[in-house]
Amino acid sequence: MVRDSREDWKTWQGVFDAFTLRALFKLSSQGHFDELMRTISPGKEAMVFVARKGAGMVAVKVYKLETAKFSKMFPYLRVDPRYHALKNNQRQVVFSWTEREYRNLLIAREAGLRVPTPIAHFANVLVMEYIGGSEPAPMLRAAAPEDPARFAKECLDDVERLARAGFVHGDLSEHNVLNDGERPVIIDFSHMAPLRAPNSRELLERDVLNMCAYFRKHGVDTDEKAMLARMLAAK
Ligand SMILES: Nc1ncnc2c1ncn2[C@@H]1O[C@H](COP(=O)(O)OP(=O)(O)O)[C@@H](O)[C@H]1O
Ligand SMILES: [Mg+2]
Repeated sequence: MVRDSREDWKTWQGVFDAFTLRALFKLSSQGHFDELMRTISPGKEAMVFVARKGAGMVAVKVYKLETAKFSKMFPYLRVDPRYHALKNNQRQVVFSWTEREYRNLLIAREAGLRVPTPIAHFANVLVMEYIGGSEPAPMLRAAAPEDPARFAKECLDDVERLARAGFVHGDLSEHNVLNDGERPVIIDFSHMAPLRAPNSRELLERDVLNMCAYFRKHGVDTDEKAMLARMLAAK
């Protein structure tokens, strides 16, 4: 995408619905990327692509409009005070989900976390900084750190920074942390919620326990109870 050649249109027409194609075309014509290169992740809920932008690269995340996870998105959004007024309309919910991830990435970045910098969003499409080199940075699950203790500290410090800023990631595990040249980059911020939302304490507990369990498997001793207490006190 989205050079105007027929070949490209044919390629992507089979992949996206007309609505998504228009959203991609709009973002591309606004100069956010030149063409989609290849899929990084063909997720059930969203597909992530590497896109070329001039001599560089960006990541493009496309939320599926017909996602089976749709029914799970609405309850999450409804308890987020920023989306109290949202109606249970499938397309609107997916757009809000996309917008929320964009806003959440901005907040996380401002809180000092290493996350992909969000660049633009429109409808169900989010453009963000690409993490990686000639290959995308692997998930932590697929690329265990060489120095797990240092990696764990950096990663858990990020979780704490976010808590101090008043937010919780909400879907943290070795699937949503990239190992970018031995430094953690937390991704997939669509579940992030303000700590003042009613379910946030459980989300924070789950995030911290998930990460600590992963790092324990790699020989890092973490005191998750103390960590949680500190994070909740900072709230
Ligand atoms: N900014 C990015 N740079 C490089 N790879 C990315 C980026 N964002 C996502 N990915 C890749 O795409 C996969 C899915 O992205 P994610 O945001 O976790 O979506 P999902 O909702 O499908 O889990 C990630 O595991 C990672 O491999
Ligand atoms: Mg993910």
